[in-house]
Amino acid sequence: MYQAPRGTVDILPEDEPYWRYVREKAERIAALYGYGQLETPVFEDASLFQRSVGVGTDIVEKEMYIFKDLGGNELALRPEGTAPVCRAYLEHGMPSLPQPVKLYYIVSVFRYERPQAGRLREHHQFGYEAIGEGDASLDAEVIDMAWRFYQSLGITELTLQLNSIGCSACRPTYIDVLKKYYAGKVDELCADCKVRIERNPLRLLDCKQPACQKVADAAPKSTDFLCPECAAHFNDLKKYLGILGIPFSINSRLVRGLDYYTRTVFEVQPLVEGGQSTIGGGGRYDNLLAELGGKPAPAIGFATGIERIILNLKRQGIPVPPVSHPEIFVANIGAGTKDEAVKLAAALRKNNIGALAATEERSLRAQLRRANSLGVRFALIIGEDEFKNGTVVLRDMASAGQESVPLKGIEGVLKNRLSFK
Ligand code: HAM
Repeated sequence: MYQAPRGTVDILPEDEPYWRYVREKAERIAALYGYGQLETPVFEDASLFQRSVGVGTDIVEKEMYIFKDLGGNELALRPEGTAPVCRAYLEHGMPSLPQPVKLYYIVSVFRYERPQAGRLREHHQFGYEAIGEGDASLDAEVIDMAWRFYQSLGITELTLQLNSIGCSACRPTYIDVLKKYYAGKVDELCADCKVRIERNPLRLLDCKQPACQKVADAAPKSTDFLCPECAAHFNDLKKYLGILGIPFSINSRLVRGLDYYTRTVFEVQPLVEGGQSTIGGGGRYDNLLAELGGKPAPAIGFATGIERIILNLKRQGIPVPPVSHPEIFVANIGAGTKDEAVKLAAALRKNNIGALAATEERSLRAQLRRANSLGVRFALIIGEDEFKNGTVVLRDMASAGQESVPLKGIEGVLKNRLSFK
């Protein structure tokens, strides 16, 4: 027997209400904040991610699904959504549109990670990017949108963590200071962190190993080394978040796992769990468009994992609206009535009433059992005599009450009954 590949899951009909709920809220909030939907291909040139996410990151180094197609092109399944959006922004001449250009996506994302609860090899993200504007009020708006999105879903037990990691002018000074601090602590670090000192020193700060966390807690803070422009930007952002009423805490160890960030980085985390369960994250990436060959354009964005959202909805016991299903079952008894049942069900569906006809030759009892298991509200029973008289039996499945009603105009009767719960 085949199974879904490790780290992937089938999304079953029983979870459909959750997926629909999250998607609808995402589409609603995107419309509220003026974002248009962009769909990019599932795969891209692998080098797009190497250049943007960065060669020293876990995502590029250990987690990408890379393959060569039959034409010899090196492609990668998308390990994140931001770089493809930037690629599309440049490819479709969007720099000439009024800025910022605001784009959102709901896509599958692939990372070869060690699977566990809330960590998959194929997951789904709702993400959005605002490209072409560097003002801190836009950072605040992007963060506000994330916060309001979770609120609209009913998820409340969250914290917003915020940091600034500076820009290409001030970050090198900070990295030097950080490296000097860590140089005296190499023996206390895990094997990965020993490599990070040279390859990706910022990531030393968010190592999950307890010993490394202790060292990171006492490390110099990026916010103490910001250039005047970055410091002013960070102060403005905090002011705007205050104006918008978004609660946040500064987390000096927040650096994010992708290399393209500049200045603002932020994450949303559930109160009850630690960093591994981060529900969403984002930040500014003011150099990325230029690095991808475009005219320099500041930008900021955010993405949140849909599977992790659903885990939180379930953990908090948040009810989601059920998905509608057919409310009518058409049963038949007697010669020739099955054809009429098939016809009647089709006529009801044409009238926008969800209806199913019995497909097998079975007793009326068996058909009503089937109707019951389908959860329909009414069964229509077509018998030989009734049919000749132009009537049909309408059975209320909950009360088992039955009455004879004329076939002509049945759609109106059903619509009327179905509108009363
Ligand atoms: P990220 O933090 O790597 O950021 O991913 C965003 C969210 O996707 C995470 O907070 C988490 O909820 C979910 N996620 C990530 N990996 C997994 C996984 N293996 N299984 C389940 N869920 C996962 C980005 O990808 C950036 N592109 C976000 C961004 C947009 N920055 C600027 N614009």
